[in-house]
Amino acid sequence: MSRLIVVSNRVSVPQAMGAAGAQGGLAVALGAALRENRGIWFGWSGKETDSFTGHLDMQRNFGVTTATIDLEPQDVDEYYNGYANRTLWPLFHYRIDLTEYDRSFGESYVRVNQRFAESVIPLIEPEDLVWVHDYHLLPLGSMLREKGVTNRIGLFLHIPWPPTRLFVSLPNHEQLVASMLHYDLIGFQTEEWLDSFIHYIKKEMGLKVAKDGTIEYQSRRIVARAFPIGIDYDEFLEASRSADAIGAYDRLKNSLGGNRKMLIGVDRLDYSKGLGERFDSFDRFLTDNPDMAKDVVLLQIAPPSRGDVSSYQLIRHDLERKAGHINGAHADVAWVPIRYVNRGYPRSELAGFYRAADIGLVTPLRDGMNLVAKEYVAAQDEEDPGVLILSRFAGAAPQMQDAVLVNPHSPEEVSDAIKQALAMPLEERRRRHQALLASVRDEDVVRWREHFVEALQGKGADDHSTA
Ligand code: G6P
Repeated sequence: MSRLIVVSNRVSVPQAMGAAGAQGGLAVALGAALRENRGIWFGWSGKETDSFTGHLDMQRNFGVTTATIDLEPQDVDEYYNGYANRTLWPLFHYRIDLTEYDRSFGESYVRVNQRFAESVIPLIEPEDLVWVHDYHLLPLGSMLREKGVTNRIGLFLHIPWPPTRLFVSLPNHEQLVASMLHYDLIGFQTEEWLDSFIHYIKKEMGLKVAKDGTIEYQSRRIVARAFPIGIDYDEFLEASRSADAIGAYDRLKNSLGGNRKMLIGVDRLDYSKGLGERFDSFDRFLTDNPDMAKDVVLLQIAPPSRGDVSSYQLIRHDLERKAGHINGAHADVAWVPIRYVNRGYPRSELAGFYRAADIGLVTPLRDGMNLVAKEYVAAQDEEDPGVLILSRFAGAAPQMQDAVLVNPHSPEEVSDAIKQALAMPLEERRRRHQALLASVRDEDVVRWREHFVEALQGKGADDHSTA
């Protein structure tokens, strides 16, 4: 088996299950993918240094070797907070209203990608497969090629790819996409994001794309395909049966009092997650159903994220104001409708919280995949499962058609879905849950990794007729 060199902006040093904080989807998925693989996970340490040295900090924890570099403050500001999170993240989540187009961000993005390329090259051996992750590092493959790397190199994008009409608002969009055509394989979460990418390739670049996603460009072959990511089902199941999970479940259930039902949301504090719209929808539900209102609680866990970026500061203020307003308007002396918590929890405790919740409320406005939806399903009691309410704009929606699917922009629709979920007969809950569980269990992170790595090795692509 070839060794894997995984490259991503953030490297999360693997920890024991109970010790891990609430990690982003990428970190959870990669930790699981690398655990059984020889190889190295390379990226930014998350630390700053006055002047860049390229020094590699190598560590080995829980069977995973990590190699990290420190970046300069200007890099962090203009590449991570700048181009990655003020330009690409909002644009790729269809939010051109929040997208900042600053030339210095683009220059730093190129400089930092060059630094990544120079630093990772000494780690790459001839037979290694190189697997690059996410929007921070789109041009990395071309820079590795320029420096003579001939290994198979793949890219997986964890976030959506926007429609061409939005994407062309990005200055230098042609160069960015041309730089991506040095990978051997480009993976997307869903067919929808893949279609948007292919549309750009055909319409803006005039290239031909075969039915199997093979693109011919400057006498190279690049395959573009969808590989929907999953959770580490076995690991999560184990977490949900741990003493920590059971303790968390009991604590939460006891705190509810009586037969009160609980809805849960767990999201990084990000405008793409639709938290403001979710609070508005819950407000609508409370207003429209005064007879049921005091029997429900919404627990929203939202660890702050990317706090140096102004759009994140704004959404944080907005949510504090909304939660305060809704609680002020509806609360009673012994009941507060929204429990709004700005911190993360270890995944084992989260598993207990999910199990204690009658409804999982996952309503992003746009999301590459959304693993919370899958974890919520995995954590349920099969005999008496809760109901998943899921945004049709989450990348998870095509695989999770047995959830109650909603348009997160419509407070009435989400409010109706909450009412429907609270009244749902046990038999229907079980039927929906079983179908959801089957896909969460079968289409897990192990399968995702195997499919991607097989495709990166060049297996399984033979139909080159053009579509
Ligand atoms: C998303 C992105 C990841 C990122 C994570 C956490 O899941 O796809 O690449 O690591 O968010 O965001 P952060 O900016 O804290 O790394």
